[in-house]
Amino acid sequence: MAWLLTRAYCPRALPWASRCLCGLMKVRSWSQGPLTAYMPEAASFPGARDHQSLYKTSVEQGDAFWGMLARSRLTWITPFHSIQDCDLRQGRAAWFLGGQLNVAVNCLDRHVHVAPDKVALIWEKDEPGEEVRVTYRELLEMTCRLSNTLKRLGVKRGDRVTIYMPPCPLAVASMLACARIGAVHAVVFAGFSAESLADRIRDAQSETVITVNQGLRGGKVVELKKTVDQAVKQCPGVKRVLVSMRTDNQLPMTALDVLLEEYVFDYQDRDVFGCVADIGWITGHSYVVYGPLCNGGTTVLFESTPVHPNPGRYWETVERLKINQFYGAPTAIRLLLRYGDEWVKKYDRSSLKVLGSVGEPINKEAWEWYFRVVGETRCPVVDTWWQTETGGICISPRPSNPGDEILPGMAMRPFFGISPSVLDDKGNVLLGNNVSGALCISQAWPGMARTIYNDHKRFVETYLAPYPGFFFTGDGVYRTSEGYYQLTGRLDDIINISGHRLGTAEMEDVVNHHVAVAESAVIGYPHEIKGEGAYVFIVLKKDSKYMEETLAAELRELISKKIAKYAVPEYIQVTHRLPKTRSGKIMRRVLRKIVENKASELGDLTTLDDHDAVQQIIEGHKHLVERQKSC
Ligand code: WT7
Repeated sequence: MAWLLTRAYCPRALPWASRCLCGLMKVRSWSQGPLTAYMPEAASFPGARDHQSLYKTSVEQGDAFWGMLARSRLTWITPFHSIQDCDLRQGRAAWFLGGQLNVAVNCLDRHVHVAPDKVALIWEKDEPGEEVRVTYRELLEMTCRLSNTLKRLGVKRGDRVTIYMPPCPLAVASMLACARIGAVHAVVFAGFSAESLADRIRDAQSETVITVNQGLRGGKVVELKKTVDQAVKQCPGVKRVLVSMRTDNQLPMTALDVLLEEYVFDYQDRDVFGCVADIGWITGHSYVVYGPLCNGGTTVLFESTPVHPNPGRYWETVERLKINQFYGAPTAIRLLLRYGDEWVKKYDRSSLKVLGSVGEPINKEAWEWYFRVVGETRCPVVDTWWQTETGGICISPRPSNPGDEILPGMAMRPFFGISPSVLDDKGNVLLGNNVSGALCISQAWPGMARTIYNDHKRFVETYLAPYPGFFFTGDGVYRTSEGYYQLTGRLDDIINISGHRLGTAEMEDVVNHHVAVAESAVIGYPHEIKGEGAYVFIVLKKDSKYMEETLAAELRELISKKIAKYAVPEYIQVTHRLPKTRSGKIMRRVLRKIVENKASELGDLTTLDDHDAVQQIIEGHKHLVERQKSC
């Protein structure tokens, strides 16, 4: 079954070239100064004197703009002969045609030539105070050795390699080693269950898995190798499992296992880019690994959690590693806010220059706290909107532009080369300000996804067909009266739990597998900390003798096992019927209103076939919430 995008990237392919450009510009944009200091290339565009005119150039003369940056900032093996051949109507997006580059060379070799001893990675291990620094030279060595191991084991150009590892230097080296030999890496978030991992391995037809014996997270041991062993049992195509020893615990080896040797690191002090995202998500790809390394920056690999060993962990890390840019998720900010200001104020945060937020809309309270308490009103907060499919940041404030306003909870302005449009549900472009609708992008940009692995048809259907001529993001947006962009949430049946996107259909599928379940509907509801939580409605099979509590416990276990722990729903409501239209479609908007406690605003119910069902669900919801509160 393939319900999620298999996030498998081919680093040799061109999108990474541009993703790196986006990463680079973003990092630079965080250092204040004149436009040409931040982007010297602006000097070649006579009309571009400030951010606004440079943005205009980037959209109106996209070819010249991206061509200039690609030539000046990347090392090409073969130079490209044309900048792009894109037609969103035809489902075609090709950039830098004829060009060939190796992203690992751009991330490593280029910098090793000029500053081999500069720190590339700081691995902020689970236990505070045990950080490990890896220089560019060491990372190159590690990457080359791993490339050779992969080659020796038979991994070839175009082969898929699944990486199931926590953030650690070897995980980055594994990504870069794949890139170096032209293999495609699919980094699977190490919080995913054996079933989810197996699904992704099969989807990518991956013969190789790289993992560690055990992970450590929040002081707890995570049995990664055991999970891999379980997953691999369901994947006959897997030929080898490369295992690195993260802890001293020797585990039984299987016939597929290849043990990787450990490395020696040296220690140095430099400036640091602190993106605390896991490398298993796109933020980790673009802003922990490829963006910072392509720019010769120093990047932090954060292995732990925001509350281990206590809620001061982020700020203690900022103090110890002297982090300059801190990039995190609203869900963590909301969690930390609850513990109070003392945990923040205890630590010296004077190294911080910019605070970033990503993954979901950041509410005003969290934004204000981040800005006032964490950044002492000194550091601009950049609420960066983007998604896996865009490769890099697309809408975000640009604090490097003197005088630019930043408003709480708003992604504000499109980034260079991005032309956002707001469309209504009939596909009309809504011009002017003070409008809301679907967020689409009207022009191709180099970092955009170009296909879904092995399923181009699905790519076109999901992103290009809904609004012909536009790239559809799946998000709702409001363009304010000042022309700023404010994201309003997903328009499709996707929920965003703690910044992790999850299809409701995926969870329904798992729930429906339970013997007692006849049908189900999963709805997202606003959650104070997680942004959204999952609320599951269940209709039992007629002969089911299950107690509600037993069923709920079994379903939670099933979701944790088949999807991931973070996806486990707080509310599971058993009901006799689900509200449906006469044609049999579940009326999700009705359920959504109920779980948002807005039962008085159910709207037009003319197509509803059973009004009693809705009343029963409203009552059941009230009881469940009360029961849960009293627990
Ligand atoms: C979805 C993308 C972007 C990397 C991490 C998640 C939501 C992301 C924001 C923001 C409002 C946001 C959107 C988007 N989202 N950033 N600043 N404000 N919503 O990547 O898993 O591909 O999820 O996250 O709904 O489509 P992803």
